[in-house]
Amino acid sequence: MESLDLEKSPALGAIRGVSEARPERPGEAADAEPTRAAGRRFHIWTYGCQMNVHDSEKLANLLLHAGWEACEAADQADLLLVNTCSIREKAEHRLYSDLGALRGWKGAREGRVLGVGGCVAQQEGDALLRRFAHLDFAFGTHNLRLVPRLADAARAGERAARVEESRSLERFDLPERHPAFPGAGRGSAFVTVMEGCDLFCAFCIVPRTRGREISRPAAGILAEVAALAARGVREVVLLGQTVNAYGRHDLRRGGETAAGVVPFAELLARLAGVPGIERIRYTSPHPAFFDDALVSAHGALPALCPHVHLPAQSGSDRVLARMRRRYAADDLRRLAGALRAARADLVLTTDLIVGFPGETEEDFEATLALVRDVGFVDSYSFKYSPRPGTAAAAFPDRVAPDVAQARLERLQALQRELTLAAHRSRVGTRTEVLLEGPSPKGRGQLQGRDPYHRRVHVAAADLAVPAALAVGRLVPVEIVEATPHALLGRPLLTQSPGAAAR
Ligand code: 5AD
Ligand code: SF4
Repeated sequence: MESLDLEKSPALGAIRGVSEARPERPGEAADAEPTRAAGRRFHIWTYGCQMNVHDSEKLANLLLHAGWEACEAADQADLLLVNTCSIREKAEHRLYSDLGALRGWKGAREGRVLGVGGCVAQQEGDALLRRFAHLDFAFGTHNLRLVPRLADAARAGERAARVEESRSLERFDLPERHPAFPGAGRGSAFVTVMEGCDLFCAFCIVPRTRGREISRPAAGILAEVAALAARGVREVVLLGQTVNAYGRHDLRRGGETAAGVVPFAELLARLAGVPGIERIRYTSPHPAFFDDALVSAHGALPALCPHVHLPAQSGSDRVLARMRRRYAADDLRRLAGALRAARADLVLTTDLIVGFPGETEEDFEATLALVRDVGFVDSYSFKYSPRPGTAAAAFPDRVAPDVAQARLERLQALQRELTLAAHRSRVGTRTEVLLEGPSPKGRGQLQGRDPYHRRVHVAAADLAVPAALAVGRLVPVEIVEATPHALLGRPLLTQSPGAAAR
């Protein structure tokens, strides 16, 4: 899956009832409360990408509708769900060590239930239940709707793994946000438009964990976005493994199909017309699926944010071909140029892999050159990690770990320079920030995102209204300081942030 890694974007998971993976030590959590009768409080740990964060939100919503109640941490929970990621080996190993440690959590209170979902559960299914006797159930990426039933069955002593792949649109039929939905009021919401991936890049396990591409009918997407807007959401982030492949299989059969799918650029235009929606983002697109209509949409739709996360993976044509990426480095340069011709201030960020099998020094330098030429404002870079069943796992010419590490450090040093320069160029300019909540380091600051997806902190004391009222709103600011990781903004409020949001 091509997406920002939550290890680097912590605010996404920090909502009540759905925390990022391991905010506490599982073993420690076990003794925090005296034994008491099993209740119906749940907590979810989430590893991985936005897709997983959103799946955790969907799970939380399903459980709320089934009469469960969200709680802040595992030590208070009767039901703990671990939503797993297998994109790289490290994430998978962390899960296994956490699951081991959760033996104590499970045993500390009668009736506790432990379930594992996400990409590792999809791959391993029954094997997880065999390996961890204290695990009650495992559920795959297509089986979220079964979780309330699996949890109740677990209470009755049943253990089960449900990892069937489904090709039905039914999986998009989910209940509306429950009044107690965690994260309501944030102002930004994820909306699934497609799932799965049919591209099988040589390094990537996602097509094996998320299944085949399936696109959601436009009417359902529009209805969800309208309902979110009516509840105060101002920004929607459209999600899909290759989000701009939306509808391609259905549309090949011509026009708006029985499945109700429209071209992606048309979907964006329709969403831009939903009253109350002021920002639209999409993630992550695949470079091969940018058509003229999508590029033009960036010039034509003011609500479409001037930021595209464009996963490049490498700047070497030889490596890109071995990765089966379906484009060359110059295609990316041209695409970046076309997007900027449509919208001059557009910001690009990317994902990059170093140390892919066979990558030479020259290949790696081509990646550095691409990063410089395109001027990515930020990137998420990873050392290649072989994944079972993928084509590249069988490639013989592995890059030595110390070489891959050195390349990663050089790439990240270059990126730091580019990011800091881009941030510094913003000082003195004005922008709008959608405030998300307190800054992680506190200091009386709130944080949010500007239209370019840059993180901006503001001092709560500088706002015209109490912080609690400002969260979820768009606030005009002047950028006064730049750091390598974020910007500092001074609110320009002459009115209430509610009025500023109009
Ligand atoms: N090894 C390293 N990085 C990977 N990614 C995906 N698969 C692998 C792998 N096997 C990276 C890609 C992708 C991001 C989400 O994770 O850069 O875009
Ligand atoms: Fe993985 Fe490639 Fe599909 Fe992205 S396009 S999810 S990298 S297989």
